[in-house]
Amino acid sequence: MTKPKVFVTRLIAREALDRIGQAADIEVWQEELPPAYEILREKARDINGMLCMLTDRIDAGLMAAAPRLKVISNLAVGYDNINIAEATKRGIFVGNTPGVLTETTADLAFALLMAAARRIAGGDRYTRQGKWRTWGPQVLLGQDIHGATLAIIGLGRIGAEVARRARGFNMRVLYHDSSRRGAEEECALGTEFVPQLAELLSRADFISLHVPLTPQTRHLIGAREFALMKPTAVIVNTSRGQVIDQAALYRALKDGRIFAAGLDVTEVEPIPPDDPLLTLDNVVITPHIASASFATRTKMALIAAENLIAGLRGETPPHCVNPTARAR
Ligand code: DGY
Repeated sequence: MTKPKVFVTRLIAREALDRIGQAADIEVWQEELPPAYEILREKARDINGMLCMLTDRIDAGLMAAAPRLKVISNLAVGYDNINIAEATKRGIFVGNTPGVLTETTADLAFALLMAAARRIAGGDRYTRQGKWRTWGPQVLLGQDIHGATLAIIGLGRIGAEVARRARGFNMRVLYHDSSRRGAEEECALGTEFVPQLAELLSRADFISLHVPLTPQTRHLIGAREFALMKPTAVIVNTSRGQVIDQAALYRALKDGRIFAAGLDVTEVEPIPPDDPLLTLDNVVITPHIASASFATRTKMALIAAENLIAGLRGETPPHCVNPTARAR
């Protein structure tokens, strides 16, 4: 019996590739940079399954060119790079990798919060540039984290883990979400629900974003929202860059409307080298690495492999974002 054909759009953990290799004929894109859209569409013509990254745009045009495609397995929990409605219409299952990256992502959100508040990246630059000439009573002053108020926007799995970390720092944790958690869960997490975003923003010392990118959350935080924040506020984004209006963020940081920002994601990725944000000292930016630990990336790859294999068999993937897709 001939094996199904799959295309894996980047080199992933060996264990996962071996697993896929048992079930399918596999082609792996070996380059550091993702395949261009035209190449991806060309590869899709002939395959039954694709294991892709958040950097791959999987749109209606690509699916139209892929008559045999049964499953798209995204190596990420977010799937805003994929046209889910189109996949569902075409009976193509879409899988993602929730759960295994929750704590690793929360760790990085907290690391960015601390780095931005305590000027860690700026302090490192200062040291390397030979500016550390003495202990200075006014040098590199930042904001206290312990005892401060943290506002979490989107109290899903990752937001809840950030809340747990905040409790270790004796922080007061507020949250805003489209749906409220039950009283028991709120109590266990030590969180207080704030129904109005404006009130949440005006009370917070730290704001951490954990919402998926949807038409409703695009530019959720813009000039109006920055104007509500304290001048000492620190904003952290490990969700998707487009949740913040980056031009408004630049102005807020430059004018001292807020104290600092810690970003793992930007509106355009990678951030262009001439982006004005990169001229500011009060922003720390990492290159979308929130889930990037050895262990977590391996677990993500294994889940993505299982999603892919199930879809190839015509079964609903274990982590499927569109289980209503009719298997072909
Ligand atoms: C995701 O999974 O959506 C993250 O952005 C990358 O791990």
